[in-house]
Amino acid sequence: MFCHDSAHYGDMPKILHCDLPPALAEIPKPSPGTKHSLHLVAKGHIDKRMAEVSERISRGEKVEGKYLTYYLAQEKLSIKSIYGNVTELLLAGVDTISSTLSWSLYELSRHPEVQADLYKEIMATMKGNPIPAAADVAKMPLLKAVMKETLRMYPVIPGNARVISDRDIQVGDYLIPKKTLISLCQYATSRDEKYFSNPNTFQPERWLHKEDSHHPYASIPFGFGKRSCVGRRIAELEVYLALARILMRFEVKPAQEGHTVKPMTRTLLVPEKEISLQFLSR
Ligand code: HEM
Repeated sequence: MFCHDSAHYGDMPKILHCDLPPALAEIPKPSPGTKHSLHLVAKGHIDKRMAEVSERISRGEKVEGKYLTYYLAQEKLSIKSIYGNVTELLLAGVDTISSTLSWSLYELSRHPEVQADLYKEIMATMKGNPIPAAADVAKMPLLKAVMKETLRMYPVIPGNARVISDRDIQVGDYLIPKKTLISLCQYATSRDEKYFSNPNTFQPERWLHKEDSHHPYASIPFGFGKRSCVGRRIAELEVYLALARILMRFEVKPAQEGHTVKPMTRTLLVPEKEISLQFLSR
């Protein structure tokens, strides 16, 4: 299967669109020409959930749940805020995952030996069970290392910023006055050979050996601190499970030998051109 221009996958950047292999074809696609926005998707889900919650409350039932259900049940947020928050979660959670998955498959297609080791790890853990779950991932260290290495090389959010508004701070030899915008570029630190040997080479095994320790803040694709990514755990799980399921069914190869794709920034880090892959049934 080759990626090309003609499919439309909602709000994913066009460069990441591709014809999916049959096993992945259940992913819903908007019909051609449909006006499809994340806001409408979010609104549709919320309105549906809202009707269910109201009905249960009117029947005097206790409504338990997390996040959306909780706030709807408690009526602590305005409907406008709920629409906004859920749209933001979708915005933050679509391109980030699709980009990380695309780059993971791209690098695995270029490193068949890593892909073969990963396939072995997945099959040994799954023991004939076709659908991996969260508990299985705990037994797959190489799978986790592949995602870490992918995000080290292709942090979908390549830069970040902070402002300390209430006081001056001292960082090393620098005095940073309050209200100064401090920009951070995690793409640069995670590709710096001061912190990672062969920084431009995909080497997931570097995350498996304690002796290869690196600076703990050199690769921080999910940010750090109070405002770090709230979706981190769900993002990791999504990528682990998707990668495991894809690799169980397909061997992934480059569409053309020697085809290389570089990342570029368009606020998010995106591929400079299409990532074209072949999915060969196992
Ligand atoms: C590979 C996937 C993802 C990456 C690399 C990523 C990365 C990031 C980064 C770097 C930040 C800024 C953190 C900071 O300023 O310290 C962030 C914030 C955020 N992310 Fe993610 N993200 C991913 C997936 C997701 C998903 C799936 C969701 C939602 C389900 C999500 C929701 C958010 C939200 C709501 C924020 C804002 C948090 C705040 O301002 O307090 N992210 N993410």
